[in-house]
Amino acid sequence: MSKLAERYGPWAVVTGASAGIGAEFALRVAERGINVVLVARRRNRLEELASAIEDMYRVEARVAPADLTSRDVIEVLQPAIGDIEIGLLINCAGFGSSGPFLDIDRSIQESMINLNCRAPLLLTHEIVQGMRERGRGGVIFVSSVNGFCAARGMANYNATKAYDLLFAEGLAEELRPYGVDVQALCPGATMTEFHQVAGLDMGKVGPLAPLIYVSAASVVATSLRTLGRRVTVVPGVLNKLMVLTMRLAPRRVSTWIFGSLLSRFAAGD
Ligand SMILES: NC(=O)c1ccc[n+]([C@@H]2O[C@H](COP(=O)([O-])OP(=O)(O)OC[C@H]3O[C@@H](n4cnc5c(N)ncnc54)[C@H](OP(=O)(O)O)[C@@H]3O)[C@@H](O)[C@H]2O)c1
Repeated sequence: MSKLAERYGPWAVVTGASAGIGAEFALRVAERGINVVLVARRRNRLEELASAIEDMYRVEARVAPADLTSRDVIEVLQPAIGDIEIGLLINCAGFGSSGPFLDIDRSIQESMINLNCRAPLLLTHEIVQGMRERGRGGVIFVSSVNGFCAARGMANYNATKAYDLLFAEGLAEELRPYGVDVQALCPGATMTEFHQVAGLDMGKVGPLAPLIYVSAASVVATSLRTLGRRVTVVPGVLNKLMVLTMRLAPRRVSTWIFGSLLSRFAAGD
């Protein structure tokens, strides 16, 4: 049995498993011998991934198609999670938008809070009770480098990711005495469907793209390698430098710089 399975098995719940970082988490956790519950809206994608996982690795993969912004999110997931011992929760589902706050539909802004903040809060409250009783487990919150700093054009998104970051850091302190490891994973630009959904054209990065972009594979490898050893994890040297700069500069200055940087990638300009 792998060390990860020993510490965080026998089941993991991965939200946002139909694409990007979440799909990569599901694969890498299953590879190490942990059964997975795959959560997202697109059932067909989840079923394809589940059958690939069961073909490749000797684990069970359940699909739990669900809209995590719905009011009754825990009740909807209960049939998939109610009868299993969950040792690892990966709160990965999330989306962003770009553009002036007032120009983006209020329901989209509200959904972002429901998906990026409310769903992880409810799932953590439901699932981590069992981990605390058993004295072992892990929770990963996928935050972002955006969580360290405000920015015009992504005001709400950055605020949701700051919530994930601070929630995770506080919980890590609370749960450490119970043997439950909590991580705030803070990736920078990662090659997924995220930018398309957020209306960001990362093609505008130009020849610097290979320097700026990190792969989902390397983000997940860093996360799983450091789980239990570090709480706040920023994958990639450039991202670490960026976070350090944001923390050292006066808040107003870093907000202005980060907003200017992001506005260069707004699609359609
Ligand atoms: N990519 C980056 O540059 C980057 C950087 C920093 C942080 N992040 C964070 O990383 C996390 C994963 O994003 P990603 O980059 O992997 O983006 P992605 O490829 O767009 O994946 C987003 C995932 O969230 C799921 N999702 C979206 N809305 C949902 C809903 N209402 N209910 C349930 N699931 C929903 C999507 O599945 P369905 O559409 O099938 O529901 C998909 O599986 C997010 O929290 C994001 O904020 C990304």
